[in-house]
Amino acid sequence: CGIVGILGTHEVAPTLVEALRRLEYRGYDSAGIATVNAGRLDRRRAVGKLVNLSDLLVHEPLAGKAGIGHTRWATHGAPTVGNAHPHRVNGVAVVHNGIIENFRELRAELAELGYKAETETDTETIALLAAHHMDRGDDPVTAAGKTIARLEGAFALVFLFDGQDDLLIAARKGSPLAIGHGDGEMFVGSDAIALAPLTDRITYLEEGDWAVVTRAGVEIRDENNTLANRPVKTIRIDATRVDKGGHRHFMAKEIAEQPHVIGEALSHYLTADGRDIALPDTMPDFAGVDRLVLVACGTAYFACVTAKYWFERIARLPVEVDIASEFRYREPPVADGTVALFVSQSGETADTLAALRYCADKAAHVVSVVNVPESSIARESGTALPILAGVEVGVASTKAFTCQLTVLYLLALKAARQRGHLDADALADRLSALRSLPGILNHALAQDRSAKKVARKLAEADDILFLGRGLMYPLAMEGALKLKEISYIHAEAYASGELKHGPIALIDKRMPVVVMAPRDALFDKTVSNMQEVMARGGKVTLVTDEAGLAEAGDGVTHTLVMPTVADDLAPILYAIPAQQLAYHTAIAKGTDVDQPRNLAKSVTVE
Ligand code: G6P
Repeated sequence: CGIVGILGTHEVAPTLVEALRRLEYRGYDSAGIATVNAGRLDRRRAVGKLVNLSDLLVHEPLAGKAGIGHTRWATHGAPTVGNAHPHRVNGVAVVHNGIIENFRELRAELAELGYKAETETDTETIALLAAHHMDRGDDPVTAAGKTIARLEGAFALVFLFDGQDDLLIAARKGSPLAIGHGDGEMFVGSDAIALAPLTDRITYLEEGDWAVVTRAGVEIRDENNTLANRPVKTIRIDATRVDKGGHRHFMAKEIAEQPHVIGEALSHYLTADGRDIALPDTMPDFAGVDRLVLVACGTAYFACVTAKYWFERIARLPVEVDIASEFRYREPPVADGTVALFVSQSGETADTLAALRYCADKAAHVVSVVNVPESSIARESGTALPILAGVEVGVASTKAFTCQLTVLYLLALKAARQRGHLDADALADRLSALRSLPGILNHALAQDRSAKKVARKLAEADDILFLGRGLMYPLAMEGALKLKEISYIHAEAYASGELKHGPIALIDKRMPVVVMAPRDALFDKTVSNMQEVMARGGKVTLVTDEAGLAEAGDGVTHTLVMPTVADDLAPILYAIPAQQLAYHTAIAKGTDVDQPRNLAKSVTVE
């Protein structure tokens, strides 16, 4: 969920809604704002996207120069108006991101005292508790302090009080929260991006901090209630780039941007002569490392699985890859000196952050590959490597994925060089091949029309299978995920060699099968598996290059022909048709491409 708070000099409702728009990537099930006007607390809430809230505000405006707002990704309770934030009990309103783990216990306690919950949410319990303390005579700051002290779990929250138009109380535990300093104005937001057009002067609350915010400034206390001095940083965020640039969807724009942003990433990491890779001094040397741990969620996880193939084959470095939500609770042994690498577009994914902290506690070298440089994951890493994809708005990750792959490939090459598996010339050759990649990607983008034709057929299916081998296996998984996310068609990926061990039973003429197979060393093997599918009536879409088409094009239903590329770079190139297939299938089905149902771009709860 996204949260915002403003103590302004003008009417805040429009500014709150604008800030929520920049936070909509955190969820869009419902939204709401509350303000204090002439001492009176009032709120408006609406189910669905933010536009429903702004429509409501046209008919039922909300005046006031102090306010809070929220855009929700439902955890406890369905997305209804009643469950939408801000929650209000008597004179207390609260917006909240995260989960209060002990809310049932608190709710039972409060019920005994006569404070009955009216919603299914954990958030309402916070407001009930604060209201109870105020009824006992506490002032807002004392009541909020006592309330925050009782809350367990991971959360960020902001309180607004009836009768107080110069007071916000904010707290952070597990979920990030930024305080923005304006001129005679103060702001609170889930991240600096939400506050970007309002101020670039940001104070990040640390774990366990809570803050009393007035227009005169902010007073921050740490978890022991001691006054804490947190620095004010000047943040540079280019918030203006967040528009569709003439494309129908952000996703289309972001797919099209890939050659450019990958070029940016390359110019950032390659040395001036283009023969080596420059990494920060804090980066551990791979020569002395005997194991690498890669952890992420979703699309970033598939980037990690791809990287395993590169690190192991090119750099002879054993890699363990895991999903963050599994890794964090498995209590995996992490030896001293292990390099643990966390990949995250947002840099805020709760599970990835928890896995990172687990490794940091075990004295691992923590390296992150992130898109948002000011994010929690970046800030808590020993070394944070940016992917330079620029703001990614579409919930289905596209350019962040290929930029993650680019940076991970560079790391694998660096590791190979440091470990003596690539000499300087061989590295320079590989980097030169990499520099020609943006141009090659442009050719793949030009296949959009063919992808659209195939997608029209895929849109008729209930289930779709993706097959790939070697480096194409993780890509097949990413292709299936993309399709599921935005077209709502069930899709699954299998390593082609695994097909015969079960999933081949699913094959009939209604089951489209997308086979990702450049003409590489494993091509013949994949083709055999593809023949097994066709022999059982399966309809194959073969994504390959000219050579692959010439050898194995007979009998397949559709083909998408990619330019020829160095074997190791194929996952970056073949990501494009995977994205295009998902995109056009979603369009054919009429789903919401940029904000698919039930998903959020950044998931800050576990
Ligand atoms: C969410 C998004 C996915 C994303 C995953 C990891 O589930 O919907 O697209 O891949 O989180 O996000 P991160 O920001 O850590 O890369």
